Amino acid sequence: MKKTFATLGILSCLLSGCQCKQQEPVTQDENPVITTIMARRSIRKYQPQAVEREKMDIILQCGINAPNGQNKQSWEVRVVDSPAFMEEIKEAIAKGHPDMNPEMAKGCFRGAPTMVFIARDKSYDFSPYDCGLLAENMVLSAWSMGVGSICLGSPVRFLTDNDACLPILEKLGFSEGYELCLCVGFGYADEEPAAKPRDWGKVKYVD
Ligand SMILES: Cc1cc2nc3c(=O)[nH]c(=O)nc-3n(C[C@H](O)[C@H](O)[C@H](O)COP(=O)(O)O)c2cc1C
Repeated sequence: MKKTFATLGILSCLLSGCQCKQQEPVTQDENPVITTIMARRSIRKYQPQAVEREKMDIILQCGINAPNGQNKQSWEVRVVDSPAFMEEIKEAIAKGHPDMNPEMAKGCFRGAPTMVFIARDKSYDFSPYDCGLLAENMVLSAWSMGVGSICLGSPVRFLTDNDACLPILEKLGFSEGYELCLCVGFGYADEEPAAKPRDWGKVKYVD
């Protein structure tokens, strides 16, 4: 990681033609927030045990402390760690998608034993951002405590594009006016994926 920061620093210095002395990368590397952000990866293989609820409570508290428009907290959150209910959800998804490969329905949560379902307030145009920031606070706090995670958009589609999943949505019990927006799986990682490259060229300072 030190190397990455050093390379980025040197690159940006060269590109901007600045005369400044290269900053020592040590301070960033010792910053636990930056270390967590840079080390987090999406996990798609998990150990079977659900995340302890005491730990999930901390992760969820971090989630609801995310910045959000006008402090409307335009989200609702449901946590599922019951293997029986998880199976019920996957079976409903399979039933609602008869053309789907059954393995895909089984793997739609990427094996995460604890799922968080996030719904957004449909009446607030910025609620998707509120929900995204809530999710980001959760995945980062989880990673900092040794808990892996995966943001999942596809199950949102699988759960909302057919009638067979209506009883599941009913059981999740979101309030009137809210719709499922994002799913986030949590658990203990059973893999160590490499970082995917990011395009630094998409970022520019504009004078
Ligand atoms: C809104 C959103 C939806 C996503 N949906 C899926 C998904 O349906 N299936 C999946 O395997 N990963 C999904 N991901 C995870 C991304 O593929 C992953 O974050 C991206 O490839 C970058 O990898 P990293 O998280 O390891 O840095 C989603 C991520 C986000 C933010």
